[in-house]
Amino acid sequence: MDPCVLWFYGLSGAGKTSLSAAVAAALQEQHIPCMRLDGDDIRGGLSRDLQFSTADRAENIRRTAEVARLACQQGLVVLVALITPTENLRAAARSIIQPLPFHEIFLDCDYQTSASRDVKGLYARAEAGQIRDFTGKDSAFEPPTAADLSVDTRTQTLPESLAQVVNYLDSKPQVHS
Ligand code: ADX
Repeated sequence: MDPCVLWFYGLSGAGKTSLSAAVAAALQEQHIPCMRLDGDDIRGGLSRDLQFSTADRAENIRRTAEVARLACQQGLVVLVALITPTENLRAAARSIIQPLPFHEIFLDCDYQTSASRDVKGLYARAEAGQIRDFTGKDSAFEPPTAADLSVDTRTQTLPESLAQVVNYLDSKPQVHS
């Protein structure tokens, strides 16, 4: 598989970290060099000065896309997992990465389902008014009009979602030099 950027996006709790980690593990089994850039990791270091305003999200996404571009140029498949809540922000990421291959993978899981899982306890804290600009509550999440791939993580199991992504990647024509 040729170097590319796989950009996983969707609400907090939609399963971006789990799915991107599963895809990375599947690629590594095939000895395909890859790298993960996950929102929680990025926000703990590279973007630790940023909050969740529109401007700060844009800067977080810009930084991550620039790192992804550099890693991809050096031969890695880069798996990014960021909420990336709006069409504008996704277009900005795409324009930083392209002409390198960029695939937008939407993890389709509604607010209620994500809130009912609440793996990190964030939804409960948001409902209690303890988190500002929470995505899907008081900060918009725009579902995509044309994702390259849409994965229904509300109803699918992780192995089913993994198989869907692997099939999608297998179906893509490869450019060999
Ligand atoms: S993005 O909008 O800039 O793409 P990002 O993916 O980095 O968001 O968010 C990383 C993580 O921050 C989320 O998965 C969630 O665990 C946590 N988080 C903390 N505060 C918020 C908030 N206000 N809205 C959304 N997520 C938040």
